[in-house]
Amino acid sequence: MKLFGTIWFYVLALGVAAYAVFAYGFMPLGSLVHPDMKLNFLAHKAGIYTHVFASLVALSLSPFQFSNRLRSARPRLHRVIGRTYLGIGVALGGLSGLYMAVFAFGGPVAKLGFACLAVCWLLTGLRAFQAIRRGDVQEHRKWVVRNVSLTLAAVTLRIYLPSSMIAGIPFELAYPVIAWLCWVPNLFVAELVFVGIYNHSLKPKPLDGLG
Ligand code: HEM
Repeated sequence: MKLFGTIWFYVLALGVAAYAVFAYGFMPLGSLVHPDMKLNFLAHKAGIYTHVFASLVALSLSPFQFSNRLRSARPRLHRVIGRTYLGIGVALGGLSGLYMAVFAFGGPVAKLGFACLAVCWLLTGLRAFQAIRRGDVQEHRKWVVRNVSLTLAAVTLRIYLPSSMIAGIPFELAYPVIAWLCWVPNLFVAELVFVGIYNHSLKPKPLDGLG
């Protein structure tokens, strides 16, 4: 089950990162998005290119940081990847995402959804960094899990968008909802399932301290 989840994590994160490289590295800007989004991207080229390429660094590095083998065998590499993930991916991707949120397609609901996502992404990244700087590994793990659940908004958004099109929901209607749906449930699952597991494993067992 864990292996199954890990494989999906790699496939989805690297798959969406590959889509971004293809769409923004090899195609004319905005050729795969709604015409209104294309106009917006053409008006904010620096913003969208910074956002896409910085964020895809975060997305493509995220699965590797959960490898126990890499962490224990190559701790220096784990640190280098972690700093790149946070420093380039989350910080630059989040700030440029916040900037692009101001112009996002879909009106105030979509703009606010993306802006809140960006702020949460930046803050959880900062907390993960602060925790590891003071040597608090357990807190670091929890904040990383929350942060990566938000990084995966890039994946969930690209699952919900085509699904809404298949369901026949007009793009103008679906997009503002998906601007929230792509990350709020991720954070809930991260909190209830994964952070919950860490908390549970940290609780003293009934026989701890005896003998
Ligand atoms: C987690 C915080 C993120 C925020 C706040 C955010 C925000 C945004 C915003 C506001 C837009 C413009 C949408 C519009 O104009 O309607 C956008 C587009 C885009 N973002 Fe993000 N994003 C985030 C994460 C990511 C990640 C991790 C990737 C990884 C590849 C990514 C890739 C893209 C791409 C490729 C586009 C262009 C639209 C498309 O081709 O589908 N974003 N993002």
